[in-house]
Amino acid sequence: NERIPHDKSLDNSLALIQEGYLFISNRVERYHSDIFEARLMGQNVICMSGAEAAKIFYDDEKFQRKGAAPKRVQKTLFGQNAIQSMDGEEHIHRKLLFMSLMTPPKQDRLAKLVLEQWMACIPEWEQAEQIVLLEEAKDILCRVACQWAGVPIEETEVKERADDFISMIYAFGAVGPQHWKGRRARTRTENWIREIIENVRNESIKAEHGSALHEMAFHKKLDGNQLDAQMAAIELINVLRPIVAIATFITYAALALQEHPEYQSILEVEDENNYERFAQEVRRYYPFGPFVGARVRKGFIWKDCKFKEGMLVLLDLYGTNHDVRLWDNPNQFRPERFKEWKGSLFDFIPQGGGDPAKGHRCPGEGITVEVMKVSLNFLVNKIEFEVPNQDMNYSLDEMPTLPKSGFIMSDIKRK
Ligand code: HEM
Repeated sequence: NERIPHDKSLDNSLALIQEGYLFISNRVERYHSDIFEARLMGQNVICMSGAEAAKIFYDDEKFQRKGAAPKRVQKTLFGQNAIQSMDGEEHIHRKLLFMSLMTPPKQDRLAKLVLEQWMACIPEWEQAEQIVLLEEAKDILCRVACQWAGVPIEETEVKERADDFISMIYAFGAVGPQHWKGRRARTRTENWIREIIENVRNESIKAEHGSALHEMAFHKKLDGNQLDAQMAAIELINVLRPIVAIATFITYAALALQEHPEYQSILEVEDENNYERFAQEVRRYYPFGPFVGARVRKGFIWKDCKFKEGMLVLLDLYGTNHDVRLWDNPNQFRPERFKEWKGSLFDFIPQGGGDPAKGHRCPGEGITVEVMKVSLNFLVNKIEFEVPNQDMNYSLDEMPTLPKSGFIMSDIKRK
């Protein structure tokens, strides 16, 4: 590839760890090119950013997911050979199963359960000196995710299970102890959920029709066979774990309210649109998913760049959400920008791009936004609290990243 910039370093794996969310956009800026080649993890990788790049990336004639996610990610975050690594008709068939679990009525039910759980926390919080929002959010979301999905969970288990989900999530990009913690968490969780699936199948646990537990346990593949119990467990975990992950965006939402107190009064008026815009801007502005990867399915040329069969290609999610060609003052937090936003499938991609029913875009965006909206409503209209001195910084050059303190709140009172 002579026509596109090449990063000169022998291997950029260390730079990727050091520059984190800005690794791709730093080079896009340096080379004045939204596509460049770099050496990462011992292979030549094409990195790209922006809406045009996203459109190509989500063309499934050009790209496949088989072989894209490293084993270390499959053994922590995704689960081995699950939906994230599937292609073609089999992927679409599996995807429709996920989509059927996340229809608007099901999103509403989940959001209602979340609000109930927030409200139920108030008496305990009023007695506590302080609470850490991130910690509370992950426990609540774990309890609610299980209840919503039909997965039985004892109250005494909630905290440990929630911590395991979090360990799987934050193992992405991690090496050393954090990676191994994620692997142990996954093994424990898969054993737990696989046993439940087996018990549903032998009828010692009842699962309600339409619940995620029931649908995963009895889903039939295109060949007419059920998923093996291990795979059904992995896919059910692919529903539970990301619900717990919304704790991250809830923490960023609280941080955004703290950094931009002028939105407090706007959100006191209980207008759906204002909540929606604020939640969208949190998803655009704050770092969570850094990039997604796929392999070239059949060689092609785009923008003078040779995409050779089998090559790994990374699409910059964080950078695209901060692309100056797509967003005015992208580094400013401004929910009103979503008033004019036209809603393309390729420019606002915190959870991937394209059509979720046809490609790999996250099927959980509706759930994420609804849960964020009720949580914002709770923080603004249902309680009053103080925010003591603490280190709320998050670093863009750590992947993953979070406000250090997890957002501490004190003197909490019901409004
Ligand atoms: C896929 C982000 C919440 C379920 C993805 C992808 C991203 C993402 C970046 C990959 C897109 C791609 O490969 O092109 C997020 C973020 C969330 C979130 C930042 C906020 C917490 C959820 C929720 C659910 C969910 C709430 C379900 C309840 C999934 C599934 C996939 C996926 C099943 C795989 C889809 C496929 O491969 O076809 N998500 N997600 N996610 N997400 Fe989410």
